[in-house]
Amino acid sequence: MAGSGCWIGSRKKAFEVKVQILGIETSCDETGIALYDTERGLRAHTLHSQIALHAAYGGVVPELASRDHVRRIVPLIEAVMREAGTTLDAIDGVAYTQGPGLAGALLVGASVASALAMALDKPLVGVHHLEGHLLSPLLSEDKPSFPFVALLVSGGHSQLFFVRGVGQYELLGDTLDDAAGEAFDKAAQLLGLPYPGGPALAQLARDGRAGVVRLPRPLIDAPHFHFSFSGLKTAVLTLVRQLQHEGRFNDQARADVALEFETAVVDVLAAKAFKALRQTHNKRLVVAGGVGANQSLRARFVKEAAALGVRVYFPEMAFCTDNGAMIALVGALRITEGVRDYAFHVRPRWPLSELTAVVEKGVGDACCGSTT
Ligand SMILES: Nc1ncnc2c1ncn2[C@@H]1O[C@H](COP(=O)(O)OP(=O)(O)OP(=O)(O)O)[C@@H](O)[C@H]1O
Ligand SMILES: [Mg+2]
Repeated sequence: MAGSGCWIGSRKKAFEVKVQILGIETSCDETGIALYDTERGLRAHTLHSQIALHAAYGGVVPELASRDHVRRIVPLIEAVMREAGTTLDAIDGVAYTQGPGLAGALLVGASVASALAMALDKPLVGVHHLEGHLLSPLLSEDKPSFPFVALLVSGGHSQLFFVRGVGQYELLGDTLDDAAGEAFDKAAQLLGLPYPGGPALAQLARDGRAGVVRLPRPLIDAPHFHFSFSGLKTAVLTLVRQLQHEGRFNDQARADVALEFETAVVDVLAAKAFKALRQTHNKRLVVAGGVGANQSLRARFVKEAAALGVRVYFPEMAFCTDNGAMIALVGALRITEGVRDYAFHVRPRWPLSELTAVVEKGVGDACCGSTT
């Protein structure tokens, strides 16, 4: 495949090679499968969430996650092929999440992807899970063009990047302790909400009264772009204990704390993201990852962006959290790196900075529009 070129995505522009990639995501507690076609876009996708399986434990149990991926993966691949009205013979390659993630869970996707690619004699592409999240807005009809600033806020990451192209990710800021999603989950637990906490806390926050309680905005004025949310979580713990001690920890108080927590996180994320835009003189902002599904965050970012003449791009709601579509998309963008050596390996720890740039003429442009 080397040198064949792969102009992806925009149906407004011609591309050199039409490819159809099967994407397999099994890095954590979701089995996601999708078929992405560079000419026709996303043909089909499906997802099995293990939330119910892990809920009783208050978090993901790695061994249970792996076993469930084993049970689900083949029927889900069959379902996607049925939905797309095609067969495996018609695909041009298989992409799977190679890392980062839970080793056992990653191995399930890697072994199935490798076996399929070998049986079909098609290229195999190992995809970086975070590159999937970062580029997930490119699945939408209205895509950002390069370069853009990207805020990645998921269960395990809070990072700001300056994205010049596919594989060209300059890390501007990183999480120093708890990620934004992790903070939502832990704060939700303190408020007695079920796992996963982010959506439940956001729901509770709707009944909250603004400004009744006060929490800190960690590192909001710091001269760098790093994030720290573990102190905020401790502040929630202290506040909850104080309200309990005073006999005031009722449903209204829980909602007030939830709203203040959500606002504090959004304040910090917005301050850093818009500062990064100013500093890089850029006018395009991508917000990806599970926390990007938060409606208050979306409303706040859209409002602030409009005031500054900036465009903000979110993935479709279904592609904020883990999914196979983003893996199939990155597989299509990186198909020229596909191997036919099926001795797969997974990378549970894998810095995004180690990725190679996709600089082949036309890839970025055709996918995401002009850079100027
Ligand atoms: N509406 C919401 N508001 C706030 N947080 C949310 C919302 N929906 C989901 N989340 C949070 O998003 C996180 C899950 O997102 P995602 O699936 O992108 O992360 P992950 O795959 O677990 O982590 P990573 O991709 O960093 O390995 C959870 O922490 C969840 O609580
Ligand atoms: Mg994820």
